[in-house]
Order: sequence, then structure tokens, then C-alpha cells
Amino acid sequence: MDLEKLLTDRLAPAFATVAGGPVDPVVRRSQRADFQSDAALALARRLGRPPRTIAAEVLDRADLADLCAAAEVSGPGFLNLTVADGALAGLVSALAADPRLGVPRTTTPDTVVIDYSAPNVAKEMHVGHLRSTVIGDAAARLLEWLGHRVVRANHLGDWGTPFGMLIEHLVDLGGAEAAHELSMGDLDSFYKTARAKFDADEAFRERSRRRVVALQGGDEATLRLWRLLVEQSERYFLTVYDLLDVTLTERDFQGESSYNDLLAPVVEELDRLGLLRTSDGAACVFPPGQVGRDGEPLPLIVRKSDGGYGYPATDLAAIRHRTGTLGATRLLYVVGLPQRRHFEMVYAAAAQAGWLVAPVRAEHVGFGSILGPDGRMLRSRAGESVKLVGLLEEAVARATALARERNPELGEAEAAEVGRAVGIGAIKYADLSSDRHKDYVLDWERMLSLDGNTAPYLQYAYSRIRSIFRRAGAAARPDAPVSLAEPAERALAFELVGFAAVVTEVERSLEFHHLAGYLYRLAAAFSAFYERCPVLRADGPVRESRLVLCDLTGRVLRQGLHLLGIRSPERL
Ligand code: ARG
Repeated sequence: MDLEKLLTDRLAPAFATVAGGPVDPVVRRSQRADFQSDAALALARRLGRPPRTIAAEVLDRADLADLCAAAEVSGPGFLNLTVADGALAGLVSALAADPRLGVPRTTTPDTVVIDYSAPNVAKEMHVGHLRSTVIGDAAARLLEWLGHRVVRANHLGDWGTPFGMLIEHLVDLGGAEAAHELSMGDLDSFYKTARAKFDADEAFRERSRRRVVALQGGDEATLRLWRLLVEQSERYFLTVYDLLDVTLTERDFQGESSYNDLLAPVVEELDRLGLLRTSDGAACVFPPGQVGRDGEPLPLIVRKSDGGYGYPATDLAAIRHRTGTLGATRLLYVVGLPQRRHFEMVYAAAAQAGWLVAPVRAEHVGFGSILGPDGRMLRSRAGESVKLVGLLEEAVARATALARERNPELGEAEAAEVGRAVGIGAIKYADLSSDRHKDYVLDWERMLSLDGNTAPYLQYAYSRIRSIFRRAGAAARPDAPVSLAEPAERALAFELVGFAAVVTEVERSLEFHHLAGYLYRLAAAFSAFYERCPVLRADGPVRESRLVLCDLTGRVLRQGLHLLGIRSPERL
């Protein structure tokens, strides 16, 4: 139980008595005391009485004796609360004894379908897919840890008109050569060559068109070629996931094509419900409240004028499948902000059709772009979109070189291991520690730095704690009495007991920079503690107590990083 909540629960009844109705005490960490409540000020205005008097009356009635060493009215009518060392120590001991570090499993489990990563067959993953993959995977880890049922839905782009040209290009190359190119991760050149032929060669274009028809008609030979493209691409994406340390597996691919049989029924049902209107030959839904800049209602095209179904129809079918068949109660779409409007329209249409009904909810977990050092969209020197694996390999190479430089005693294998954990961790952390709604700049120096809000800083803090225990030659005794005499010990304890509140907040907001920021504050509080409070050189009970603080910090750091999908090596 975190302290804000404990103090709120104690103050709320007192405020309610004074106010004659419920009041949120608004308890916050404060510079002056440990915590502060400002609620008396607003209440005083409402009641037309002096705020200091109100604050004093609340304090008179509040039962704080076992929790606070001091509680006083200050300034214009703030309540300043100083937590008793014994109470804080008790909370720390409870955490130390709890394998879940104070974070309870949810009592209201959702079935959460997380739509994330979703690259496109025979096309390179770009940095947008990096963000989706990293954020979506953190969501999957965190929600699963809290006890929700998580379904990972990798909405692979494996269907549509480009497959005509891709298959014809495959035919030209021959299956073996094509498989080789694709499995090497040469997706971009495969796609671009196909595209170039399509643009330049009328005969190729014609073959491609006929091929799309054959594909849609279920022609067995064509389907075989298509499957080859899909399988080779999937195999390649799995190697990227492996390098990236994400939890997606081959079982999580739920490509767009898997909804093919649902598309016609979905459109028929929309028609039966009277939701379809024809516009320029296309069947459209006009979801309520969705208007363009000109104020005109916006159409969501569910069947094109040529009879084909596209991206919106597939997403409607996916919603129906996820809520209807999978029993989802929470739908997450980890997709870039440019697709916001698309999802708003799809959700509104699905709601109208009765496929998305409260309490089931759909959320667009949107994110901004990754920018280059020049503050513009990240591009390679040749001006092309940056290949994701290239980025990951560079991160690992840089981190491995830094690891060797800092620690020449590291063996080859260990340096590679550390380089990978730190390099990949740095990339993921740079992403997760920035507000996902905003763009951020990819800055190698900063993200690999051992100082500041970075993965290496947190991993370093963790490895330092592990080295304390290696030197101690023993683990901490979690039941050793905790004493918090030093300010640095208290400050660390306050951070430790705040873990649960942050995790619970992120469960709702999916704003992982709050978790990252918390871990950073925790690691900083640990550094300050470790500078001022000797651990191994302290005597008996103090040493034991400090070892509990070290151990708990290490466990929270490790668990927090794990939720972000980042490893914690024992040594750096
Ligand atoms: N494949 C799409 C892209 O690369 C992302 C798909 C997102 N998910 C969805 N259900 N529409 O942009």
C-alpha cells in the first residue's frame, strides 16, 4: 500500500466531517514535509471560512497517530505531514517480504488484445514499427504481470493489391533465390525491385493484376507462392524480435489475411443494420461525430467500388473477432499517431454496429516519430527510411565497444552479452522514457551515457547492488529489522514504497515514461544513499537494515526494467 493512499484514507473521513460531504484530500509529496495536503484551501473558499481553521479542524479529527511523527498546519492552510520512521520502516519490511514488491494482482482482470508491431510482408520494418513493438511489448509484460489475460495480436500486413506484383517478382526470381533474399532480410530491395518493374513494365503490370485476381480467387498455385512470401518474412521478423528481446512469437502473427472470410459477413451485417451508404460506388459507413475540416461527414470505406475490401473493413472484422470470439474487454492499438483518425472512425463504426459496447473499450495507444539529429524524420544518408536491424546492430556494436573500454577485464563472450543487453536496452529505454505522444530525437551519445535518465544508468545501479552482495558473500535477510535514521535512507524508502502506485497508473495510461522516470528517481535515491551510508562497513543491525534496502532497490530496478523489456546484467 503506498503512502499517498494510506494518508488519503486517514484524512478523507476527517475532511468529510468538516465539509459535510466527501472531499479529496489531494495528498502530494512535498519539499517542506514528507507530504502535503492543500485541500483545506479550496474547501475554505467553498465554506466561506478561514483555511487555517479548517485545516486545524481536519487535523483534530484525523487519525494519524501511528503513521505520522508530525502533522501541522502551515502557511495559508496547508497540512504538512511527516511520516514516522517506524511506519515507513514497516512498509519497507512488508515490501521486502513480498515477492510482488507491493504490487497486487488485479481483482478485475481484463482480456486485453494488444495489436502491436504489425510490419508488412516483404517490406522492411521501419522505426515506426520499432516504437510499436517496444511500447506494445512493454504493455503486454506489464498487464500480464498484473494478472490480466493478454492476447498479442501481430496484425501483419499480408494481404492486398501489392501482392500481385510481389508474387510476379518472386516468379521472375525463382522461389529459391527469392527465399534467400527475403530470409537475409533484404526485404527493401525485394519490394523496391518489384515496385520498379511494376512502374516501368506494362506486361509486368498486367501479370500482377491477373495475379491479384488469382490470389483473391484462392488459386492454389498462387496461394503457395504467397505463403512463401509470408513465411520468409515472418521468419525474418522473428529474428528481429529475438534481437530486440520482445515476447512476440510465431504464434502471435494474426495477419490481415486471417480475417478474409469475415469481411463479407461484416459488410453484410453493416448493411442489415442500415449503416451503409454508397458514395462514388463504394460502400461506406459514416460514423457519427466524424467530420472533416469542411464540416462534412467522413466516410469509412468498407467495400471499394471494385468490390475489394481494404484496411478499414479488415479492422472492423478484427474488432468483431476480438470482442466476439476472443472475449476481449480491452482493445489496445499501438500504432503511430497519423492513424488516429482511422481508429476513431473504426471504433465509432464498430460501436454503432454493436461490436464494441461498454464496458469493453478500445484505445489507440498512439505515438510520435523518431527524429534524426537534425530534428527531422530519421533517414539514412541516402535519404531512405532507416532499416531497423541496422539501428539495432549499431546500438549493440557501440555498447560492446563501450563495455570493453570501461572494463578491459571482460571476456569476449561477456562483453558481447553486456553489449547486447546495454545496446538494446538503451534503444528501448530511449523510446519508453519519452512521452509517447511526442516525437523524440535519436541521440546515441545520450542514450548510451552512464549518466542521466538512460538504460545504462539504471543497469549500472543494478550491477552495483549485485556487486555489494558478491562482496558481502551473502544475500540480505528480508526479515531483518529496518531502521531509517539517515535522511538518505528515508528518501530511498519513500521511493521504494512508491513502486505500486506507478505501476497501477501505467496500467491505465500506458505512459511508460512514468515508470521510466520512477526507476530513474529510485536509482538516483540509491546513489545518494550509497554515497552517504556505508553498507558493508556498518555494524550489525545497521548493516543488515541497509542490505535490505539495497536488495529491495535491486529487485525493484530489475522488475521495473523487466516490465520495460530490458535486461539487468549482474555486472557491466
Ligand atoms: N501494418 C500497418 C502499418 O505498417 C499497421 C497495422 C496496425 N494495426 C491495425 N490493426 N490496423 O502501418
